[in-house]
Amino acid sequence: MKILGIETSCDETAAAVVEDGRVVLSSVIASQVEEHKLYGGVVPEIASRRHAEAIVPVVRNALSVAELTINDIDAIAVTHAPGLIGALLVGVNFAKGLSLSSGKPLVPTHHLRSHIASNYISHKDLKPPFLCLVVSGGHSHIVMVEDYTKMKVIGKTRDDAAGEAFDKAARTMGMPYPGGIEMDKVAELGNENAFSFPRPVVRDAPYDFSFSGLKTAVLNLIHNMEQRGEAVPKEDICASFRKAVVDLLVSNFIKAAEDFNVKTLVVAGGVSANSLLRKRLSEEADKKGFTFYKPDKSVCTDNAAMVGSQGYYEFLSGNIADLSLNAVATLPIDYI
Ligand code: KG4
Ligand code: ZN
Repeated sequence: MKILGIETSCDETAAAVVEDGRVVLSSVIASQVEEHKLYGGVVPEIASRRHAEAIVPVVRNALSVAELTINDIDAIAVTHAPGLIGALLVGVNFAKGLSLSSGKPLVPTHHLRSHIASNYISHKDLKPPFLCLVVSGGHSHIVMVEDYTKMKVIGKTRDDAAGEAFDKAARTMGMPYPGGIEMDKVAELGNENAFSFPRPVVRDAPYDFSFSGLKTAVLNLIHNMEQRGEAVPKEDICASFRKAVVDLLVSNFIKAAEDFNVKTLVVAGGVSANSLLRKRLSEEADKKGFTFYKPDKSVCTDNAAMVGSQGYYEFLSGNIADLSLNAVATLPIDYI
């Protein structure tokens, strides 16, 4: 079964064709990141306009690389939530039009579920159940993936997402958007023990995260140094900050895995590209006897191959929308 996946939730316009949830026949991404860099972050209004310009050529390109026409496609999967509403609406409306004109079923697909599915592309043997750490620019969740379309949130951030914390700290040091990627590179050059940042815990919620105190600590450190006219040691700050974020993510995730007695651990979302997070999770899993899966770096950040993959499982479970489908800015991962 061939699924056309469409993704426009943030600043990438993407389309892909995926066979049986696992085999990527094509994956096309038009990134707007260079334009948003000028403003230090995503400007929603600009994102929507660029999606409107890019959606037709991107979808055409995905079909043509796969050497298929819309007639060969079995269903159209589209990210309908969560994300920037104006951005999501472009993909949703386009998918509705294509579904109407082609007669192909329309499959609404949750963006974070799709991030989890990026692992089905990278690991053909991976099947639920497993525990997944989903860390992106907008979300930090620990999710029990009981089945492909049945999930339960075990823990989540109470304030900022991990990616957001990376991006804000990096921006304060004048690093380009998206700061997480740049910070990861610069951190490799620094001393991770140079600064000691707090490791906030959420009382009575051992699997929840809180990053805002950590973010404030790094912002205060940088501002104080600037006010005193001192040079800001970016490498050491990046390395120490990255270590603090990764410590928090890894410790809660491993605790959840032990408490819920799961054996398979998975990481997903843009922040899963972080080199220290990948390394630390692999080491902890080895030490504690868990099997650990991480997505290939090529599918960590936003793409439509993961939408085509999750869309396949949503389709099989009967999650099919009619033409009244709307975009939704916020929607829990366990909404159905
Ligand atoms: O999943 P994603 O592409 O978009 C959302 O759904 O939010 O995640 C983007 C986030 C950004 O915050 C970006 O800085 C972060 O992922 N990111 C990283 C790395 N690569 C991307 N954060 C830390 N280290 C990285 N290597
Ligand atoms: Zn994403």
